[in-house]
Amino acid sequence: MNPLYFDYAAATPVDAEVLAAMQPYFAEKFYNPSAVYLQAHAVRSELEQARASVALILGAKPAEVIFSAGGTEANNLAISGVMSQYSEANIVVSAIEHEAVLAPARSYDCRITPVKPDGRIDLAALEGSIDEKTVLVSAMYANNEIGTIEPLHDIAKLVKAVRRQRAASGNPLPLYLHTDACQAANYLHLLVNSLGVDLMTLNAGKIYGPKQCGALFVKTGVKLLPQIKGGGQERGLRNGTENVSNCVGFTLALQKAQNLREVESERLHDLQQQMLNQVKQKLPQAILNGSLEHRLPNNIHLTLPGQDNERLMMLLDERGIQVATGSACSAANTEPSHVLKAIGLSDEAAQSSLRITMGRGTTSQSIGTLIDTLADIL
Ligand SMILES: Cc1ncc(COP(=O)(O)O)c(C=O)c1O
Repeated sequence: MNPLYFDYAAATPVDAEVLAAMQPYFAEKFYNPSAVYLQAHAVRSELEQARASVALILGAKPAEVIFSAGGTEANNLAISGVMSQYSEANIVVSAIEHEAVLAPARSYDCRITPVKPDGRIDLAALEGSIDEKTVLVSAMYANNEIGTIEPLHDIAKLVKAVRRQRAASGNPLPLYLHTDACQAANYLHLLVNSLGVDLMTLNAGKIYGPKQCGALFVKTGVKLLPQIKGGGQERGLRNGTENVSNCVGFTLALQKAQNLREVESERLHDLQQQMLNQVKQKLPQAILNGSLEHRLPNNIHLTLPGQDNERLMMLLDERGIQVATGSACSAANTEPSHVLKAIGLSDEAAQSSLRITMGRGTTSQSIGTLIDTLADIL
């Protein structure tokens, strides 16, 4: 029997149509898009069509879309691409960012700004964290562990107000807003102007597309230094022969995710409610972490007091159910999650917590099996 999968925040299976769209670029249309013969030109034009389609979804210009090898790489380009130009400047990041933001940010003068107990960025604290030397604020669109949707609009307003003050006081330093939208693209709109962001990271591997593929939106006028230097591809910002197959797959995956966004959000929201009702009845000791109101519809994050989450995860795995104890990239890390610590959980509570993330394959029946099995184990 196939295992029941509840770890869609870690990886999504590649959609069958996406896989089919990628297939021709391996052996048939394998050409280097920078080569000059006709077939290579055709591949270049398909790559540029893909870029234009991504741009359309973001309400951006094609030249503002830089394809990358995944979310980590796009985050590194955004952060180091800005910060490496300024020796005296600082960066402000939220306490619940993914390591793919935190790690590059720590290479610079990095200020961590707190979140409230519901996992949303504390705007007053953020305002206090930004000073006259801040050039970049990085605040994720939605969190990968507790599914919290962050108040990006309000953050963008704050950033704009600081820019106005700087212009008035003659401070020439820019202030940019970056958002990591890796977990958001299945469920939230991605219109960059309405969000008010200057840089936005996308990740194909979380939206039923290929892994090691994504994009960085770079607003016109934002200057970045490349982190991977070479032959000038991607406007010189991400050098190396383009992976056209991945870019085409990513683009179709993004189109499908955004077309399905409302229907799938509604369906998963119903399943989320069902799961919470069953948790209340069958696991009354469980505590939900993170905001319920401002939450991705596919995320349930529970603390089960007194339980060891590693043990629970393994017992569920033995019964054919796959859940996570934290983010997959830090699954080997035995330290309690920095996200759970940031919302005020003790080490012990953090290590008694499970992340359950749903996706296209999740059904009402699979939820019932998960909760009954968990109740049985407990
Ligand atoms: C919010 C967020 N940012 C960045 C990443 C990194 O993506 P990747 O490992 O695909 O490069 C992930 C993946 O877990 C994520 O959830």
